[in-house]
Amino acid sequence: MKIRLGVMFGGVSVEHEISIITAIQAMNSIDEAKYDIVPIYVAKDGTWYSGMMLKDMQIYRDMDLLKRYAKEVVLYKRDGRFILQSKRGLFRKDVAEIDMVFPIMHGTSGEDGNLQGYLETVGIPYCEADTYAAVVGQDKVFMKQIWQASGVPVVKYDWFFDTDYSKNPDRIIERLEKMGYPLIVKPARLGSSVGISVCKDVNELKDAIGEAINYDTKILVEEVVKNLTEVNISVLGNYQKQSLSVIEEVGSSHKLLTYEDKYVGGGKGKGPSKGMASARRIIPARISEKLAKEVNDIAVKAYRSLNATGVVRIDFLIDNKNNKVYANEINSIPGSLSFYLWNKTDKEYPELLDEIITLGVREYKNKNSKVHSFDTNILSNFSSGSIKGVKGIKK
Ligand SMILES: Nc1ncnc2c1ncn2[C@@H]1O[C@H](COP(=O)(O)OP(=O)(O)O)[C@@H](O)[C@H]1O
Ligand SMILES: [Mg+2]
Repeated sequence: MKIRLGVMFGGVSVEHEISIITAIQAMNSIDEAKYDIVPIYVAKDGTWYSGMMLKDMQIYRDMDLLKRYAKEVVLYKRDGRFILQSKRGLFRKDVAEIDMVFPIMHGTSGEDGNLQGYLETVGIPYCEADTYAAVVGQDKVFMKQIWQASGVPVVKYDWFFDTDYSKNPDRIIERLEKMGYPLIVKPARLGSSVGISVCKDVNELKDAIGEAINYDTKILVEEVVKNLTEVNISVLGNYQKQSLSVIEEVGSSHKLLTYEDKYVGGGKGKGPSKGMASARRIIPARISEKLAKEVNDIAVKAYRSLNATGVVRIDFLIDNKNNKVYANEINSIPGSLSFYLWNKTDKEYPELLDEIITLGVREYKNKNSKVHSFDTNILSNFSSGSIKGVKGIKK
């Protein structure tokens, strides 16, 4: 029997449009002999829609049309089955039944653990990172702290909360300046270079913090890697076994890769974006065999230390003068699911997708084989004593 796969995309995120592109690419490549695809589009206001027309890019050009033809749905569990039920109408009809969710959402709400936590609570199997891996993969501070503790090389960094800064900006500025300029300021939990700036002096640093605070309560500041070569690698697997893609080299070495560089590609107005697959990239990266081996080894360590599942992309910063390699970030649901990196290792996109789904099923079975609750009812022997609010309850 075919697996009915709910492909979820869109989401309340600055990467909403990128997610639509990644999901449509994926839905057109999933092996339909093995899987029945049920598109689930999450609009910018958080409403979920389903319907086959959501597999077509054109529909997203006209939200009124989309809302008219797609069904507004909710997901719930009934008698052990997972149902997408229509939210409107007198008789709330079942729109579709699904067996598993494939979240293809980038950034906040979809890649950051919130959706994963919701799916765990509903109890439905899903692909890619679980809640824990998704949370630490989205928070650049958590990520760096875990990597540092696991022996994964990261750049010098510091972080603070927005309110700590507003209470005593001078103290924080003084602390940050100890790292030395230039510095790079980032909102801890965003993506796509939004709110990120490089600064060369105290005025620029204050401006950069002011900008980043618009986006997040938690701010990360790092030293800037000089003589920069940026490379990425994709890892596929789980905590037991990992495979590695080729390494790509990205963008130019002297400027920040912006949202436009990454996604608009080739300049504005030159046709539809192709997502991360369109960013300027050189495959394989022009780095020595020794450095490539280092990137491979660090990638495996970085992947395992976050307990990732499925496909991820890990981005590296290399100082090409002293050949120092730093892990910069992990994307637990990468743009285009990094298929363009696997093509080069002879893994075609349908095969990559099939492996991601299989890993999701395995993860679900593995988790369910563990003990989650005990039969004994501790509460039955519990004496309320003097605990407030419990006192007085009699059997
Ligand atoms: N410490 C750093 N030194 C030099 N360049 C950096 C550093 N951190 C980030 N960058 C540049 O900024 C870009 C965006 O930063 P990144 O941490 O990847 O955030 P995002 O999640 O927005 O992609 C990187 O692709 C890289 O070009
Ligand atoms: Mg990045």
